[in-house]
Amino acid sequence: MIGPFEANGSAHTTKKVSVVFVLGGPGSGKGTQCANIVEHFGYTHLSAGDLLRAEIKSGSENGTMIQNMIKEGKIVPSEVTIKLLQRAIEENGNDKFLIDGFPRNEENRAAFEAVTGIEPEFVLFFDCSEEEMERRLLCRNQGREDDNIETIRKRFKVYMESSLPVIEYYNAKGKVKKIDAARPVGEVFEAVKAVFTPPSDKVKAASWSFKWND
Ligand code: ADP
Ligand code: C5P
Ligand code: MG
Repeated sequence: MIGPFEANGSAHTTKKVSVVFVLGGPGSGKGTQCANIVEHFGYTHLSAGDLLRAEIKSGSENGTMIQNMIKEGKIVPSEVTIKLLQRAIEENGNDKFLIDGFPRNEENRAAFEAVTGIEPEFVLFFDCSEEEMERRLLCRNQGREDDNIETIRKRFKVYMESSLPVIEYYNAKGKVKKIDAARPVGEVFEAVKAVFTPPSDKVKAASWSFKWND
């Protein structure tokens, strides 16, 4: 458990939460794998991109600004994204969160830490080539305004210039669990499962398979 996290910015309510940051380039499979992790390991999935898109739909005063930034593949000011993440954490009864697609740059990282006091348990990093990510994004078919080749190129540039340094930052702290994400979904999830399974359960699983194969 990591904390303290002061809900509503008030010193009265403190919610202790455990957070895993899920990072990787656009189309590396973060959302797909988070859905699997939720099902198997009881986390709540918070995608920063999904929260921003919901904010546009809700007709909020920031909606037009967010929409324009997403169309250009730019990173929305941290203040906006962090408020959405904080609200989602507060409103949820769970205490285990996968935060997907955040922090996306140094400003995101530093501001989140300063505002919430939350340090991630670890960072799950989906490593995938640009060629493969581009193929996946062009097939995604979810009607996203940023899944076109022009915006995809801009998103890759932002990823290389602003997001990879954040992954490097956590890597230097020994917090990154790197997954080869270029493989089929099931194989990637096998590697993900190994990261989330406590060592004692891995021993149990190994002895069971020993008995069966004996
Ligand atoms: P992200 O959230 O990282 O942008 P998604 O999970 O939305 O990525 O995946 C992008 C697209 O690629 C989706 O259409 C998804 O179904 C597909 N996809 C995800 N993982 C894989 C994989 N391992 N192999 C092939 N396609 C994948
Ligand atoms: O993660 P996802 O691909 O859904 O993000 C879509 C877009 O949302 C990004 O390209 C960016 O414009 C915006 N975003 C952001 N800050 C984040 C996450 C997403 O501005 N931390
Ligand atoms: Mg996603």
